[in-house]
Order: sequence, then structure tokens, then C-alpha cells
Amino acid sequence: MVYHIAILARLGFSSDSVHMLTDRTVREEKDRGGRRMEIEEIRLKYLNPQRFIEEKIAEIASLAGSGLAINALSGGVDSSTVTMLGRRALGERLKTYFTDNGLMRDGEPQKIVSLFKEMGVCVEIVEAQTAFFNALRGVTDPEEKREAITRAFYKDIFSGLVKESGARHLLQGTNYTDLEETVAGIKRQHNILEQLGIDTEEEYGYKVIEPLIQLRKPAIRKIAKALGLPEEIYNRPPFPGPALAARVIGEVTPERVETVRKATSIVEEELSNTGAFQYLAILHEDRVTGMRNGKRDYGFQIEVRCWDSEDAKTGSPTRLPYDILEKLADRITTEVPGVVSVTYNVTKKPPSTIEAV
Ligand code: XMP
Repeated sequence: MVYHIAILARLGFSSDSVHMLTDRTVREEKDRGGRRMEIEEIRLKYLNPQRFIEEKIAEIASLAGSGLAINALSGGVDSSTVTMLGRRALGERLKTYFTDNGLMRDGEPQKIVSLFKEMGVCVEIVEAQTAFFNALRGVTDPEEKREAITRAFYKDIFSGLVKESGARHLLQGTNYTDLEETVAGIKRQHNILEQLGIDTEEEYGYKVIEPLIQLRKPAIRKIAKALGLPEEIYNRPPFPGPALAARVIGEVTPERVETVRKATSIVEEELSNTGAFQYLAILHEDRVTGMRNGKRDYGFQIEVRCWDSEDAKTGSPTRLPYDILEKLADRITTEVPGVVSVTYNVTKKPPSTIEAV
């Protein structure tokens, strides 16, 4: 709520009007004439993909001028869509990086880079594991964790890349749900900056361009498809910017990420054909007493979540068949070292959120 009220106060809203903003989110943005503009969602049913694509290409080209821009690709539908829009607008003047922050899923950096290579897009991997784990050392509070990731990403990594490359703009795939949740004070999404009062040019040395800010996930999928991205990308389940750190409760260490990474691979293998919106594994902070080979084993707990949702704004747990749940429990407790307990979350969003952190 802190962000929300502070931001709305800057925009001239009273705290009483806060709860009225359910469908419309505002942020401070000046157009070229210096007037304040509102960000309004473009609903799926009103979206004309070809027109949207043409408009965004023109907008990116005009904002970037004759300069260079960079963008961070994670392989998710949002950053992939931005990569293609940016390429169409700027061609080789857009440099695309994949940040290997040590928090990605098994084999993900290489998989994404080779997929984009097939589409003629050259992506450079940035080795940033040490920077991220250093930033996360000793941090257990969820919002502090998100803030540490934001800082590592935008300041430690991208400020340097911008200086090296001479770019003046960073293109990124912030979407309407990210904006709404951060402004509402629910969760600080890693990619929300200006809405929290961060002047990116002053803080990091570059401006941020967000072509997808008016769209939610289903609309972005439609744009991705219209841009010719493969189904593997436009139908890819969402994955959060803070990556597996959003799924480790408590301190994020390389060892704890490895535990959740192994559990994630199993959950994705077993649930990818359910048609669910998103499915994930979470590592809990508390350990519980278990037993293995007739002996006490004080071990880790993994929580599985599988969501039915349209756009991540709300969600319900998928009613998974019991034999799938049992298989998940058996595989995770035998294949992931140290895990003695697997639970399935049956809470809706709200009051839950999709990720645990
Ligand atoms: P929550 O956990 O807030 O997630 O219900 C809503 C949707 O957003 C994804 N998510 C993020 N995406 N940066 C992102 O780009 C973030 O910091 C972030 N946190 C959550 C989440 O996976 C879900 O699809």
C-alpha cells in the first residue's frame, strides 16, 4: 500500500480514491508536450494485432531515434515479443542479452539462445550469477529480495552493458498486470521502475521503453503469434522476472536454488500437458521431520502450485487428478536430494498470489 498511496498522491489522488481504481491503473508519464498521460489497458477484444504492431514499431523507432538500444531476453512471451518488435523497429541497432543470473531453470539460457538463433536473432549471454547471489546473500524478506534483484539487474548489470554498448534505451516487456500489482502495493514486480518513482536515466544512465505496458498476457500472446514467434514461445507458461528466487522462501543460495530447480523440472514434465495457466514448485524455509531407510531425516518441504487463470490477475488451483499428485510426491521425494515432504496448494488467488515471494 505504501507505493500505491505515494504514487497516487504524486498524481493528485487522495487515498480514498485508491480502491476505486480497479480497472484502470495510472502512472506518471509525460507526453512530448509535457502533459500527464494515463496508462489504460487495451482489452483483448479491442486489440488489432497488426495495428498494434505497426504503432509500436513506429513508437520504438521514434523514441530510440538514431541511437542504439538494448533489451534483456528471458525467453518468456513478454520479453520475446519485445525482442521481435525492437528488431523490426531498430534492426541491428538493438542488442539483445540473456542474463544468466543463476536463477533460471535447467538448461534455459542455452535453449533460448539457440531458439532465437534459428530465428536469426543473435543473443549474447551475460554471466551474472555472482552478482545476483551476492545481492541476495542474507536477504529473506520477500520485498527486499525483489528489490535486491531489481538493483542487481538494472544497476549492476545493465548500467555496465549500456555504458559498454553506447545504448541509451532499454526495451522491456512490462505488462499491465505487473504495473497494476506493483501500484496496488501487492508485490513489487522486478521490472517496475518509474511507477515507484525511479528516474532510470538518473539512477541507471538509460531510459526504459515499455511497448507492452497496456496489455495483459492473453493479448501479448496474440501479438507474439502475429509477429511470427513459434508456439513454444507464444504459448509458453509465464515465468517471473526474479526467476526461481520468487520460489525460494527464505534465503536464496545456489544450493537452495538447485533444490527448487530440480523440483521445477519434475513439476514441468508432469504438468505440461494439463493445459494449466502456470505450474511451479516452491521451496519452503522450514524443515520437517521425515524418515528414510528406517532413520529420521529432517528434510525440506516442496509446495506444488498449478493454476487455472486467464491473465494472472486472479486464479484457482487446477483440480489435478490424485494419481498425478501422488506421482509428483513420489518423484520429488526420490529425485530431489533432501526433500521429505510435498504439498499441493489449494488456495485461490486472492488471497494467495501465484508465486510465493
Ligand atoms: P503473482 O505472484 O503476483 O504473479 O500472483 C502474477 C504473474 O506475474 C508473474 N510474476 C512476475 N513477472 N516480474 C515478472 O515479470 C516479476 O517480478 C513477477 N512476479 C510474478 C507470475 O509468475 C504470474 O504469472
